[in-house]
Amino acid sequence: MSAMNVDEVLGEAEAAVQGASDDAGLEQVRVRYLGRKGEVTALLKGLGRLAPEERPQAGAAINAAKRRLTALIAERKDEIAAAELTAALAEDAVDVTLPGRRSGSGGLHPVTQTLARVEDIFTGAGYDVVAGLEVEDDYHNFEALNIPPYHPARSMHDTFYFGDGTLLRTHTSPAQVHVMERQAPPIRVICPGRVYRRESDLSHTPMFHQIEGLVIDRDISFAHLKGTVTEFTRQFFERDLELRFRPSYFPFTEPSAEVDVQCVHCMGAGCRVCSHTGWLEIMGCGLVHPNALKMSGIDPEAWSGFAFGMGGDRLTMLLHEVNDCRLFFENDLRFLEQFR
Ligand code: PHE
Repeated sequence: MSAMNVDEVLGEAEAAVQGASDDAGLEQVRVRYLGRKGEVTALLKGLGRLAPEERPQAGAAINAAKRRLTALIAERKDEIAAAELTAALAEDAVDVTLPGRRSGSGGLHPVTQTLARVEDIFTGAGYDVVAGLEVEDDYHNFEALNIPPYHPARSMHDTFYFGDGTLLRTHTSPAQVHVMERQAPPIRVICPGRVYRRESDLSHTPMFHQIEGLVIDRDISFAHLKGTVTEFTRQFFERDLELRFRPSYFPFTEPSAEVDVQCVHCMGAGCRVCSHTGWLEIMGCGLVHPNALKMSGIDPEAWSGFAFGMGGDRLTMLLHEVNDCRLFFENDLRFLEQFR
């Protein structure tokens, strides 16, 4: 054992201490040199093999090396801790000079606003609001509305069927049936809600909104229907717009009509919005077919009624002059924020 040997071990150990980058690595170095089976410890144990006169000097050198290494390890430990702290601080640094994030306020979806607007107008006239069901059975969506299984009108409704005889309602008219089944006339209700059809293009989305209206009382005539629709459009658009009732066909109304309103964009002159016709279709309607009354337990000899169904999305488009109904379902805040 020579002084050279001690210096060599110390040199190696110093390099190892500097090379340790975390507490665990540093502890390994400590054990390797200063542990019970460490290299410095081994040098001390080797003292006995030296000649007695060499021992004091060699022993002093080894002890000095041991103290130096212990000090170095303590120093490195502090350095590692300081570096870790600096890194942690840098990682979650907060720039206190940055402006705070504002929390925006939300708003109702434009279609929801339309449904509420329609509800307001009709509840103001004494109507009740009824929810209806989105998952219906064939009977309520079709049969009770005078649309038997073979009826060609079914092909106008691209229906989503579930395997078990239920389906997603293709219109809000089944809500009429539920009301007639459980309530004796007089009846005055509107039923706003979601409806579903298997179609998707510029002017159709697989889910859209309708608002159904149903009135049943003594001696209800087409004049009541016309007056109601006229007053509704006046209040909804807040303008006196021309209306046009076009003869049409629905299995559950007779007579039936489709209602066009004077184009809100060009006021009837003809433009892109109304395909240069000057008119915009807003609803289907008619007097409730006697078969439909009878099937839901209402005597058509004693009572008569009218019904209408209008598109909630379409009304919203017309009110705000939006030209693509898909915008309502993309949830782009830049679009929605304009309706707050
Ligand atoms: N349910 C019909 C449709 O979706 C609209 C309608 C409702 C027509 C009520 C007449 C009476 O096409």
